[in-house]
Amino acid sequence: MSSPSNETCFQSYSIFHGIPYILFPDNPFSPINPITRTRDDRIQLWIHLGLVGICLILSLINIILQFLKPIPYGRHDKEIGIFPRVPARISFAISQFIPGILIFSLTYFLQRNFNRPSNIVMYCLFIIHYINRSIVDGIASRHAKRKVSLWIPVAATLVNTIFHFVNAQFLGEAQYCNGYYFDPRFIIGLMFFITGFILNRVADGQLIALRSDYKDDSYQIPKAATFYLISCPNYLGEAIEWFGWSILTWSLSGLVWFLFSLSTFIPRARQNHKWCNHNLKDYPEKRKALVPFIY
Ligand SMILES: NC(=O)c1ccc[n+]([C@@H]2O[C@H](COP(=O)([O-])OP(=O)(O)OC[C@H]3O[C@@H](n4cnc5c(N)ncnc54)[C@H](OP(=O)(O)O)[C@@H]3O)[C@@H](O)[C@H]2O)c1
Repeated sequence: MSSPSNETCFQSYSIFHGIPYILFPDNPFSPINPITRTRDDRIQLWIHLGLVGICLILSLINIILQFLKPIPYGRHDKEIGIFPRVPARISFAISQFIPGILIFSLTYFLQRNFNRPSNIVMYCLFIIHYINRSIVDGIASRHAKRKVSLWIPVAATLVNTIFHFVNAQFLGEAQYCNGYYFDPRFIIGLMFFITGFILNRVADGQLIALRSDYKDDSYQIPKAATFYLISCPNYLGEAIEWFGWSILTWSLSGLVWFLFSLSTFIPRARQNHKWCNHNLKDYPEKRKALVPFIY
C-alpha cells in the first residue's frame, strides 16, 4: 500500500483527522493509513482496541486505588506485608527495563512499518526515556539500602507490559505520511515531549543530589528552581512528556498511556506534598503539589 501523500498531512483538521485506526478506513484525510488491510488485520485491530479499553479501565482503577492509599514505596513504605522484600533499585530498574525496552522493542520490530523514518524517531524517543528510567536512574539513585515489597515491581512490570505492548504495536504498524515531520501534531507533540523530558530529568537529578551518598536515605527540602512552586516537578515533567507523546503519535494507545501516568501522578503528588508538609520543618507554604498555583 502506498503511503499517504504530503498533501493529506495538511488536509482539513476534523476531529477524526489522522486517527489511524478510526473505524472509517477510507478516511481520505488521514495522514496515517488505517491498519485494517486484511481480515487478520481487522482481528488485530479489534484486539488492539480491546487492549486500549483495558488500559482505560486500568487507569480508572489505578487513580481510585492510589487516592485511597499510596503505593508503599519510598517515603510511603510501611515495611509490612506478606510478600518478601527485595532491593528497590534493582527491582525498579528491571520493572522498567523489561516492558519499556525489551517488550516495546520486540513488539515494535515485529510490525510491518518499524523501518519508516517518523516511526523510528518516535521509537528512539520512547527508548531514550526508558534507558534513563531503568539504567541511568538505577545507577544514580541514592537509596541503596531501600527495599520494597515484591508485589510492587511485579505489578509495575505486568501493567507497564500491557501499555507498552499496545503503544509498540501501534507505532510499528502506523503509516505516517511523508510530510509528517512538518505536521503540527509532530512539531507540537515533540516540543511537549522534549520539554517534559528535560524537566523530569533535571528534577529527578536535583532530588538525587539532595543525598550525599548511597547510604544516605534522609529527606531534605528541595530548594532548586524547579521546586519553587511545586513539590513534584519530576511528575509534572513526565506528565508533559506523555502528553507530547499522545499528540506526536496521534494515537489512542498514546492517549491511554498519558491518562495512566496522570492516574499515578495526580494522587501520588498530593500524598508526597502532604508528607513533605508534615515531615519537613519549614516546608515552603506557597508550594503546590503538581500544578503551580492550582493543585
Ligand atoms: N509513568 C509512570 O506511571 C510513573 C510512575 C511512577 C514514577 N514515575 C517516574 O519515576 C521517577 C521516580 O518516581 P518516584 O515516585 O520514586 O519519585 P520521588 O518520590 O520524587 O523520588 C525520586 C527519588 O528522589 C528521592 N527523593 C524524593 N524526595 C526526596 C527528598 N525530599 N530528599 C531526598 N531524596 C528525595 C527518592 O528517594 P526514596 O525512594 O528513598 O523516597 C527517589 O530516589 C519519576 O521521574 C517519576 O516521574 C513514572
